[in-house]
Amino acid sequence: MLKVRTYPDPALKSPTQSVEIFDETLGNLLDQMHQTMIREEGIGLAAPQVGQSLRLFVVDLGDYQGEKHRRYEFINPKIVSGKGSVTFQEGCLSLPGVTVPVKRFDQIRVDYQDRQGARRSLEAKDLLAVAIQHEYDHLEGTVLLDHVPFWKRYFLKRKIRPDYRF
Ligand code: CO
Repeated sequence: MLKVRTYPDPALKSPTQSVEIFDETLGNLLDQMHQTMIREEGIGLAAPQVGQSLRLFVVDLGDYQGEKHRRYEFINPKIVSGKGSVTFQEGCLSLPGVTVPVKRFDQIRVDYQDRQGARRSLEAKDLLAVAIQHEYDHLEGTVLLDHVPFWKRYFLKRKIRPDYRF
């Protein structure tokens, strides 16, 4: 099982590399990430959250709108278009106990590769679109705290780390 890194672990801010080799090691990492995400009751998990500086993430919304545990995995993803807007109260396995309202696109198109390296494209909306955008943020070193105004961020950082000062 993989250990989920929590803020302020530097892995969450490390630059991520594109995946170039689509081998068994990659498949094993993705499988372990799926297991870890389910165990931790998350709906998405990005490689930096488990200490891997790679451009990939997994999503599984659980039982959502009739879909039962559909496993999504996105390697070298690129959000190529977005429209509409929606605000969810978002949580993150790397920020236990914190939720933050974030405004995002309601519909997106994401180009990516699957675990065999094949190029794919997906239209996503609603919670799936939000989860993909949240996980994509992790590949850019962005966490939920970066989406809140600085005064509120200070309050949240104090909540996470009572010793936190400016
Ligand atoms: Co997150």
